[in-house]
Amino acid sequence: MKVFVCRKIPAAGLDKITAACEADIWEGDLPPTQDQLAQRVRGVDGIVSLVTDKIDGDIMDTAGKQLKIISQMAVGVDNIDIQAAKARGIKVGNTPGVLTDATADLAFALLLALTRRIVEGVDYVRAGRWKTWGPELLLGPDLRGATLGIIGLGRIGKAVARRAFGFEMRILAHSIDLTPDEAAEVHAQTVDLESLLHESDFVTIHTPYTPETHHLMNRERLQMMKPTGLLINTARGPIVDQKALIEALQNKIIGGAALDVTDPEPIPMNDPLLTMPNVIVVPHIGSASIQTRNRMAEMAAENLIAGLRGEKLPNPVTE
Ligand code: GLV
Repeated sequence: MKVFVCRKIPAAGLDKITAACEADIWEGDLPPTQDQLAQRVRGVDGIVSLVTDKIDGDIMDTAGKQLKIISQMAVGVDNIDIQAAKARGIKVGNTPGVLTDATADLAFALLLALTRRIVEGVDYVRAGRWKTWGPELLLGPDLRGATLGIIGLGRIGKAVARRAFGFEMRILAHSIDLTPDEAAEVHAQTVDLESLLHESDFVTIHTPYTPETHHLMNRERLQMMKPTGLLINTARGPIVDQKALIEALQNKIIGGAALDVTDPEPIPMNDPLLTMPNVIVVPHIGSASIQTRNRMAEMAAENLIAGLRGEKLPNPVTE
């Protein structure tokens, strides 16, 4: 069986793939372009994709009718046309669960970095500006007693809530189909999105990216946040209307933002967000712990191999 692996992934998964099938591995540091992808998938039985690879109906058709499985090394699958895969009888697998804690850790790291102004502090020291201890130097708000609003109380949102409980925060949550009992399990209170935005000191996003969540955080919703409110996004860039976010920050509608994901990715170097002291941008590293990435690669290999064999996927998005 022939497969195309869209980037060099950790050996924990790649070794399983190369042992089980004839693997063509994209060696570039940058992902294949759409043309390069189309050339390389011709005739393959399986594809291992990453969040950077757009796997649409055309790519599936170019691969050919023998394509059985698209195995995504990520939990989010918004880069894959799931309906197109279903229509063609192609299975899709992903890597849920294993990256929950790593992503929640990053959301918390960004929250702490923003509130305690870590990046500004590092820049201050590196610029040689640290002359003495300052009674009012780089002050920021406490987490304890503050209200955290979690948009999307799924696996990752709940892991964030558990961390917030440890920090003695008040936790509000908004999710589709979320029951008060389910939220209470992680010490969160369910509210509508408007109340969450009005009442939260910090808002963190953990929904998947779908047509319904496109620009969920638009100008109107950003205006509902407190002027001191901080927005954290470790989900997907286009859930936030980035133009509206820039305006909200420039006009002091909100207090700051920390983004692990942007729209587009990578963020262009001339983007105004990169010059704002109250904004932190990191390069989509939510799942980037050693153990997590190894396990994601293994899970992607397991889904791939099961799909090639016509077996049930251990972690199916579609079957
Ligand atoms: C990463 O962004 C993922 O969806 O796993």
